[in-house]
Amino acid sequence: MPTSSNPVLTMLKADHKKVKAIFAEYQEATPGKQQGIAQTTIQELEIHAELEEGLIYPAIREGIDDDELMNEANEEHHLVHVLIAELKKLKPSEDTFKAKFTVLGELVKHHVKEEEGEMFPQAQKAKIDWEALQTEVMERKEQLLAA
Ligand SMILES: [Fe+2]
Repeated sequence: MPTSSNPVLTMLKADHKKVKAIFAEYQEATPGKQQGIAQTTIQELEIHAELEEGLIYPAIREGIDDDELMNEANEEHHLVHVLIAELKKLKPSEDTFKAKFTVLGELVKHHVKEEEGEMFPQAQKAKIDWEALQTEVMERKEQLLAA
């Protein structure tokens, strides 16, 4: 099936688009609005990362036989979590916050490029039960949004 009819990859790509748009919005926003935008972005990223790490990456790792690619993706997720943990300790008004948040945006952009450019095309060709995975992902997403 083409990527466009793959429910999981389609959802991930829509999430990526959304996150990239809010990072861009942050850069344009007034300092007063940046705080709320940053919080939304962090929440979106945490849910997205949890779904990938807990359900989607394990399925893809099994399907594509490219541990190097998957290990690198995991390290990038690790860095995302490190930056988010550090951001949570800062006040959004601090200069370091903006710098760190901007670096987080660059890291996410790079990571998305690798996922969409390398990982997803390989995953698309692999034997993965996308429908079953999608059901699990949606259930987990609802739990996370409710928490
Ligand atoms: Fe990811």
